[in-house]
Amino acid sequence: QAYNERESLYIVLNYAKDFFVNNLDTEEGKSIGLSYFKERGFDRQTIEKFDLGYALDGWDHLLQSAKKAGHSEELLLKSGLILQKEGDASRYYDRFRGRVTFTIHNLSGKAIGFGARILTQDKKQPKYINSPETEVYHKSDILYGIFQAKKSIREKDNCYLVEGYTDVISLHLAGIENVVASSGTSLTENQIKLIKRFTDNITVLYDGDAAGIRASLRGIDMILEGGLNVKAVVFPEGEDPDSYARKVGSSAFQSYLENNSQDFISFKISLFAEEAAKDPIKQADLVKQVVASIGKIPDPIIRTVYIQQSARLLHMEEEIIQAELNKIFLKEQ
Ligand code: CTP
Ligand code: MN
Ligand code: MN
Ligand code: MN
Ligand code: MN
Repeated sequence: QAYNERESLYIVLNYAKDFFVNNLDTEEGKSIGLSYFKERGFDRQTIEKFDLGYALDGWDHLLQSAKKAGHSEELLLKSGLILQKEGDASRYYDRFRGRVTFTIHNLSGKAIGFGARILTQDKKQPKYINSPETEVYHKSDILYGIFQAKKSIREKDNCYLVEGYTDVISLHLAGIENVVASSGTSLTENQIKLIKRFTDNITVLYDGDAAGIRASLRGIDMILEGGLNVKAVVFPEGEDPDSYARKVGSSAFQSYLENNSQDFISFKISLFAEEAAKDPIKQADLVKQVVASIGKIPDPIIRTVYIQQSARLLHMEEEIIQAELNKIFLKEQ
């Protein structure tokens, strides 16, 4: 039977997915991979739902097995599952070795790539190794967890956006299924369009560290530009949604989300309020920050609503906010 290249990639990626998943039943997989997931509180059902797996330690376990099953080295290379040896391009080895694996699914549930986490605290190696861009895996077009989340996003009419694979999984364990991850990279226009197929509302739940807050600020403006409504929840310093959900438990975590969701204006104001309170220049910066975000909103009526709200929260005349906004629009022309 003849397959085109995309179909062949789906087949070999599905083979790898099954291989990694089944490795969890081997002695090595049980004692290392499965026990790692158990320690994080991931149960069997969750492991199956997300096709979590384990890449055996060794240079070419997947490569050898896939070759025996009739998959060519050329295809394995194109799928990103193997790499060419440096200095000897005719030799290959597995990309993912001795790591737990997270299957990345497309919208219809097909495996399109993998993220693989190291099991030790080895600072010399990257914590995660991910599939490269391929014919079927366009990182900027997909969000981790979208397949498992889409139904719930539509039902709840909201999508939680987190940074990491484990945040998505822990939220499911906490009973929250409308969640996707940007996987540590900046949010793209296409990713926002993907969410927009299911809802107009996004709540950003980034890590409670400086990097997470910077990423939320960027993400919020992108989301506003896409014409969606955005809220944000800030986590205590050093916590991410996964660690915090595990720390406080499902119901306290759900209440935390409900009680701490703020719209983007309140979020920005609370971030900069402390500095702004004692410094008029910082106060002016804060106004400009808020106005910059409002300027991203395409709908003039929604813009007006936010002008009113920010005027109230910043204790300023609407006219001043409007005048500041006009400056942005004038610059753009
Ligand atoms: N990431 C990556 N490569 C890295 C570090 C991070 O691709 N070297 C991506 C992963 O998708 C990861 C996300 O960025 O899930 C968020 O990174 P981080 O917060 O550092 O990891 P966590 O997801 O919190 O992972 P863990 O809880 O296992 O430490
Ligand atoms: Mn594309
Ligand atoms: Mn982080
Ligand atoms: Mn994190
Ligand atoms: Mn984490």
